[in-house]
Amino acid sequence: MNIKALNGFKDILPGEVELWQRVETAARDLFARFNFSEIRLPILEHTDLFARAIGEGTDIVEKEMYSFVEKQVTMRPEATASLLRAAIEHGLLVQKPVQRLFTIGPMFRHERPQKGRLRQFHQMDVEVLGSASPLVDAELMAMGASLLASLGLSVSLELNSLGCPACRPAFRARLLAFLTDRHEALCDDCKRRSGTNPLRVLDCKNPGCRAQVTDAPSLQDALCDECAVHFQAVQDGLNQLAVPYSLNKFMVRGLDYYTRTTFEFITGDLGAQAAVGAGGRYDGLIEQLGGPKAPGIGFALGIERLVLLLQQQAAEAPPSGIELFVAGIGEQPSRHAFGLTHALRTDGVRVATDHEGRSLKSQMKLAGKLGAAFVLILGDSELASGKALLRNMATQEQQEISLPDAAATIRAIIRATASSRL
Ligand code: HAM
Repeated sequence: MNIKALNGFKDILPGEVELWQRVETAARDLFARFNFSEIRLPILEHTDLFARAIGEGTDIVEKEMYSFVEKQVTMRPEATASLLRAAIEHGLLVQKPVQRLFTIGPMFRHERPQKGRLRQFHQMDVEVLGSASPLVDAELMAMGASLLASLGLSVSLELNSLGCPACRPAFRARLLAFLTDRHEALCDDCKRRSGTNPLRVLDCKNPGCRAQVTDAPSLQDALCDECAVHFQAVQDGLNQLAVPYSLNKFMVRGLDYYTRTTFEFITGDLGAQAAVGAGGRYDGLIEQLGGPKAPGIGFALGIERLVLLLQQQAAEAPPSGIELFVAGIGEQPSRHAFGLTHALRTDGVRVATDHEGRSLKSQMKLAGKLGAAFVLILGDSELASGKALLRNMATQEQQEISLPDAAATIRAIIRATASSRL
């Protein structure tokens, strides 16, 4: 019997996992510098949470959730709803009126799998609860842009405002009138959507629909005074921080909770899956979920898409993990190598060795394959003389190491070589 992973569920193997670690380490480091704290959340939540937060009529809630229907629980399709649920449940906003939180982990959506689109995918999700300041919007986008730049990725930022309950209904009615004239030319999805959520027609990817909406009215021109002032202040903030962006009046987002600012980090290098990250403001959502009347904003980056981009855009290979290979030749030397390897590992050195009694030649080959910076060669004569040979694999230089204090000497040499490379 040959059981394989489910379609859209992917193993992340050694070789690729180093890129994941690089992405996550860079993110954790940056989030800490921006004063965010980590929160860890369950994968399973009441279905109702997502239906209420994301919206009954959205693709996610209508078609894509992994739900246990009888138990009325769902594997989270995104993190924002869960994070808000946790913040409300634990009274976090009572303890501190502005919360800056991030979480990293798997999300689940039953979409058609393709490059950059999985059914289990991973997000790094950042949320600021309790601040209405447009500077926070700009700060979050600047943080996302910094992270992408620090990974060597070239990605563009697109910005829009979806207004608020004061100005969106009038715009919706205007858009509906505009779409009614073009109804027959729209795709089936959009024909249906124009009745329920006409704004979604604006970001339909179907070329026929795109052609129809090029001269559709823009919400950016229909914002109420407060929303317009906010939107301008967000742009001023981005300009001050020198974060490049472009306005995209067609960006609507597939989740219903957004108000005002929405944004996406977009790449042309991943085919149809152009968004590596996205987010926006949700000023009514905390209250709608039973929490205090508090605004909020956040975004999430898709790790799979970042890793794909790293593989495509950033040519440089990840550095090897192994600093030393200890090659023991013969029974006694191998036994000694076993002990020395352990001593060095507990001393903080990354060491590999052989347990299969391989020849020196094949151990040297293995060390090369692992990218070891040094190899320690230990045979019967070395054991007898109390001295082993340490070879620098980059320069091919060899030096004798006295065995009784081998661990300390080797560690010092490896550290000195590593710091001279910096
Ligand atoms: P989203 O646009 O649905 O927003 O997802 C954010 C990011 O997750 C996307 O830009 C993409 O990189 C990644 N992503 C989404 N679906 C998939 C998939 N099937 N396969 C691979 N990657 C995927 C949200 O989820 C919001 N909760 C973001 C947010 C946070 N808004 C406010 N706070």
